[in-house]
Amino acid sequence: KTRVLTGITTTGTPHLGNYVGAIRPAIAASRGENVESYYFMADYHALIKCDDPARIARSRLEIAATWLACGLDPDKVYFYRQSDIPEIPELTWLLTCVTAKGLMNRAHAYKAAVDANSAAGEDADAGITMGLYSYPILMAADILIFNAHRVPVGRDQIQHIEMARDIAARFNHLFGAGRDYFVLPEVVIEESVATLPGLDGRKMSKSYDNTVPLFEGGAKKLKETIARIVTDSRLPGEAKDPDSSALMPIYRAFADEAESADFRAALAGGLGWGEAKQRLFERLERDIAPMRARYEELIAQPARIEEILQAGAARARQLSVPFLAQLREAVGLRRFQ
Ligand code: TYM
Repeated sequence: KTRVLTGITTTGTPHLGNYVGAIRPAIAASRGENVESYYFMADYHALIKCDDPARIARSRLEIAATWLACGLDPDKVYFYRQSDIPEIPELTWLLTCVTAKGLMNRAHAYKAAVDANSAAGEDADAGITMGLYSYPILMAADILIFNAHRVPVGRDQIQHIEMARDIAARFNHLFGAGRDYFVLPEVVIEESVATLPGLDGRKMSKSYDNTVPLFEGGAKKLKETIARIVTDSRLPGEAKDPDSSALMPIYRAFADEAESADFRAALAGGLGWGEAKQRLFERLERDIAPMRARYEELIAQPARIEEILQAGAARARQLSVPFLAQLREAVGLRRFQ
């Protein structure tokens, strides 16, 4: 069976970009034949970006409830929290010891932080933790501990998967002695929705503060947020360039081809922006409303979610515990006999 794995960092509340780029394709893939899916909350990754315990706690509950509300079947999928699998941080250390520092120097997230510091006239490493610096190694451990074949992610994560391959190949080379411990994971990008834009047209991202929340705040908040999508000042009756705002790509991410073509034609034909936003809202609401109802039911039962996640971690550890034992053996951490 093909093992498919992906994770979502538990900072903030899930937005449409997470849903379209990760959650929806992941759940669809988990229903396929001959796949074994591993979906998890990257809560150790969250600690890199956030030192507010209440926010971390809230976010991991919301994200777990979101996956379940969107249709994930915890009996069919390995569904767990990263921090419930102690073999992940253990493997992170084994991998850290074979990862070149130069590889980490090239990581986009780290480089962006250094560039921002330089631009602000600060010391290059100001405010940068070792967590941020070695983030890609923790991510490699997430993937390699279950030897995932395929990793569906948004474009921003491609480099991390390439790094995981590099690190895996290095470990295999050093310790494999004729056998490959690790599969080299492949990145999977859903081209049609590779990067969903946010309110301002840039990539929808918590860091740009331009997100449309998936469930938070209910239909009212969804409508209000859609109203904030940046458009030009063309009036109703004037032809719009459908590609000049985030409306069209967000619509397309939810609608089928015929619906999208209609929407595009309506914009080009002079549909007012206000009316267009109403149509977008209604189209999104059609998909989101039933999931939101399930979400609200689930989020009111944290103990039930806890049980599901504990069961998921127990199943996943049936694989990670013996595999880590083999890896310890491989590097020479063996029992004396
Ligand atoms: P994170 O939490 O930033 O995002 C979760 C997933 O959502 C995708 N995504 C988007 N896709 C399309 N359009 C957007 N605007 C958009 N915004 C986010 C991301 O690409 C990602 O696939 N490091 C990862 C989490 C992680 C992980 C892993 C993923 C940790 N370990 C192992 C895969 C395998 C992250 O921060 O994603």
